[in-house]
Amino acid sequence: MPVRPIVRLGHPALRTAAEALDPQRVHDDDVQALIDDLIDTMHDANGVGLAAPQIGIGLQLFIWRAITARTDPEAVPEAPVRTVINPMLEPLSGALVTDWEGCLSIPDLRGLVPRRPAVRLHGLDRRGEPMALTLEDYEARIVQHEYDHLNGIVFLDRMPDLRSLAFRDEWQAYLTVADDAPGPDPTVG
Ligand code: NI
Repeated sequence: MPVRPIVRLGHPALRTAAEALDPQRVHDDDVQALIDDLIDTMHDANGVGLAAPQIGIGLQLFIWRAITARTDPEAVPEAPVRTVINPMLEPLSGALVTDWEGCLSIPDLRGLVPRRPAVRLHGLDRRGEPMALTLEDYEARIVQHEYDHLNGIVFLDRMPDLRSLAFRDEWQAYLTVADDAPGPDPTVG
């Protein structure tokens, strides 16, 4: 399956609301191939999530790795990849949690972003079956980041204070205590 180019900030697809996918089309070869390509592209880029607009496709669809902790790189390679189509995100109660994020469409930058600690995600899985998941911790963050991509929102828009913005190398040197082991970077999606 081909790895597709990831579009970067400035591409209109990142600032345009994505359209719902006709549920009748979920089983079509082109839609299944799109999901496979998103997964391959995410793996190739060492990310933990990827939304269709990030490869220039304006459909409400994203994939993510089910990891629960940014600072546990051991967990990343084991984490299953999940897919959601036409998602609805329902915030659950709890104080906002601030942690680091990056974005494959905004290479090399990291910033602190407050997010809901838990969400309920509804939608269709890649077989077209209804799904409803309660997600917490870092997985909830990843899903909020990817869901934003379907609405033309990037993590920079969610930063209350741009002074935490940092390039990756400097972030690793000065700002994070996370393991910098090779492999998927749990901050980017
Ligand atoms: Ni992103």
